Amino acid sequence: MSSDDPNQLVEFSYVSKATQDMGLSSLVRLFDVAHKWNQGHELTGVLFYENGHFSQILEGKRKDVLFIWEKIQKDYRHTILHRIELDEIDQRLFPNWALRFYGGNQIAKDVPHLIGFLDGLPDNDVELLRIMRSVAKGNQD
Ligand SMILES: Cc1cc2nc3c(=O)[nH]c(=O)nc-3n(C[C@H](O)[C@H](O)[C@H](O)COP(=O)(O)O)c2cc1C
Repeated sequence: MSSDDPNQLVEFSYVSKATQDMGLSSLVRLFDVAHKWNQGHELTGVLFYENGHFSQILEGKRKDVLFIWEKIQKDYRHTILHRIELDEIDQRLFPNWALRFYGGNQIAKDVPHLIGFLDGLPDNDVELLRIMRSVAKGNQD
């Protein structure tokens, strides 16, 4: 399989900083659009929002991931701090989630140690990614 096969399954992640205060309604609006799109394009993953920072893991075919990444990075609601990686994968970590959202109460409940962690960005991005993976993996229902 060639390394730029558009149908190759890939995983992509980044960390960004919100450019505005994301209240609940802004988050719900964002999530609604994103979730719907992802569902229709076999994109899966998780989105964290805490302390004015987003972090997201996206999985899907290379062509679909790159298409939505173009839009996401131009989105006025945030500025990208760090693109973490684009890796070819054999199978999805989050096959059942078009987009699982973690923020506020959900983080406090499932990932209390993540609160405050985002303050140290972007130095800790690899560690953040590791935490996102482990948390999300443990909650695949
Ligand atoms: C942090 C963040 C994460 C996003 N994640 C996704 C996503 O996973 N899927 C998606 O379709 N849109 C996502 N979006 C929204 C896109 O940036 C964009 O608004 C959406 O694709 C609609 O684009 P359009 O107005 O050009 O149609 C995200 C936006 C932000 C700020």
